[in-house]
Amino acid sequence: MSDGLTDLYQEVILDHSRHPRNFGAVDGADRSARGNNPLCGDRVSVYLSLDGDKITDAQFDARGCAISLASASMMTEMIKGKSVDEAKSLFEKFHKLVTGEENAVGELAELETLSGVKDFPTRIKCATLAWHAMVAAIDGTDEEVKTE
Ligand code: FES
Repeated sequence: MSDGLTDLYQEVILDHSRHPRNFGAVDGADRSARGNNPLCGDRVSVYLSLDGDKITDAQFDARGCAISLASASMMTEMIKGKSVDEAKSLFEKFHKLVTGEENAVGELAELETLSGVKDFPTRIKCATLAWHAMVAAIDGTDEEVKTE
């Protein structure tokens, strides 16, 4: 593993991947969607509970690498209590963070540890996998979304 990749596995990522928050499938969620990273075949499902347009609960179930699990775990923590529009806006900012277009300021500060993927294009897909599924769940997309 190169030094750069080692840097990716910072303590926060390891903690979230080993002890993912809000982990587990949910029966009867208001919204759910599945995501697939075709590069590796890893999958994630995201489950949302809504009160009007407010996300009251978010869970995920996944088989993936440490970065994908950590990103999903952090995402579910961050979107609880947000409106669906705020959650989608957060994804847009997060995407800019992991592609190097945005700095980790404001609400992105919590996600800074994931910004290291910007130098590793395949890892950007790991970091965004659950986020694509979250947006698909909000949009009511039935088909599995892909990171491609
Ligand atoms: Fe599959 Fe990261 S290697 S999601």
